[in-house]
This record gives sequence, C-alpha cells and structure tokens, in this order.
Amino acid sequence: MKSWIEYWNSETPIYVSARHKALHYRLIATGIRDLILDPGIDALDYGCGEALSADLVAARCRRLILADAAPNVRARLTTRFAGEPAIRVAAPEEIAALPAESLDLVIVHSVAQYVPRPDFAALVRQLAGTLRPGGRIVIGDILPPDLSAVTDARALLAFGWQGGFLLPALLGLVRTALSDYRTLRADLGLTHYTEAEMLAVIEATGLTARRLEKNLGHNQARMAFVGARL
Ligand SMILES: C[S@@+](CC[C@H](N)C(=O)[O-])C[C@H]1O[C@@H](n2cnc3c(N)ncnc32)[C@H](O)[C@@H]1O
Repeated sequence: MKSWIEYWNSETPIYVSARHKALHYRLIATGIRDLILDPGIDALDYGCGEALSADLVAARCRRLILADAAPNVRARLTTRFAGEPAIRVAAPEEIAALPAESLDLVIVHSVAQYVPRPDFAALVRQLAGTLRPGGRIVIGDILPPDLSAVTDARALLAFGWQGGFLLPALLGLVRTALSDYRTLRADLGLTHYTEAEMLAVIEATGLTARRLEKNLGHNQARMAFVGARL
C-alpha cells in the first residue's frame, strides 16, 4: 500500500468491532449536530469516512455533503444514504468545484494527519472559500507533536471500557500493531501540529480561529479548532 487514501479505501482494522465503529460515528455525528445552532444549513463533512450516523446531522441540514477521497467509501455512503434526500455524496474534485460562499459549516475531522502539511494548508484555503459570511470550519482530531501511540491506545481502551467493547479494543490494538497501519505510519508518517501552527493555517485563509475546548472524537489528547468567516 502506497498512500493513506489507498489504506482508507481498503477494509481497515482500525475499528476493532462493529460496536466500536457505530459508537465512534455516533459520537462524531452528535458532536457535529450540536455545533448546528440554527437548523436548515448547508454543511459539508470533508473526509467523512463511513459516516454511519450522518442522518443525525442531516436532520438539521437543508443539505449535507459527505465527501471522501476513497472511492469504496463513497460507494458505501451512496448506498447507505440513498433514501436521505438531504445527503449528497461527493468526491474531492466536486468539492473543489463548489461555488464560493455556498456553505455554512464545513467539518474536517481526523483527516489532517493523513495529508502533507502544504496540501492541508491548500485544502483549508479552498474550503474556507466555500464559507458564507457567518460560516464556520471545524477541524478536529489534530495530533499534537508530543502525542504518542501509547496515549492513543489508552484513549481507545477508555472508550472501549465505557462503550462495552474493551476486549475487542485490546485485541484490536494488537491487530493494528501488526497491520498495514503501522507500516504506513512508519513509511509515510502522520502530520502533527502545535496549537499555534493549526491556528496559523486557519488564520492564513482570512478566517478568525480559536481552539475548541473539546475534540469531537473520543480522544481528548487530540485538538479541535474552529475558523469563522465574519
Ligand atoms: C480517519 S478517517 C476519518 C473519518 C471521519 N471524518 C471520522 O472522524 O471518523 C479519514 C478519512 O479521510 C479520508 N481522506 C484522507 N485524505 C483525504 C483527502 N485529501 N481528501 C478527502 N478525503 C481524505 C480518508 O479516505 C478517510 O475516509
């Protein structure tokens, strides 16, 4: 496997059980839903993955675009949400072609670590251009420089304990340690940011930026940020 997108396009062992996957996507979806104070918005979840609970977000949107670079992920999303008129599935090229100022909320959760630094800055610039005045971009699950695999493992075990999948979480950690994820992590690396670096990436697009108190995902050692167009 040569790229992270190829990795995400395959059957990954990252979710240790069906319950883990379902609880993960429910947590992300409720986090996004809670960011929507005025229902009826146009939203984009960029690098959305399987987005199993996107219907919870769509219920508060006029339009929810689910975008992902992995074709197999998009195919599953298209099948899953065929009956949801507010949801549209899109490839990155289609997002690049969106009109300026056409969205109210853009989510980019757990994506930055898989994208080289200059490409991510360009992506944030492109996505910032799609925001209407008053619109926001939320960038979450950012890996700080000192984040270790041990901290990630501990957070997964705590999530497994709370969610009733502790044993699968333990087995899953072993499986991941022996999988392509570990090899790719060693070969391609993951992109980490300090708080100041991510604020600078967002502010360089002309948005005002601040760090959120909580990450959207289960791992509070990772950071989330919001950029707002005034
Ligand atoms: C860790 S998953 C995150 C899924 C979901 N956002 C979440 O928080 O659970 C990363 C996803 O980002 C997608 N991705 C990675 N790089 C991307 C890029 N440059 N453009 C669009 N999607 C990308 C992958 O295909 C994968 O589905």
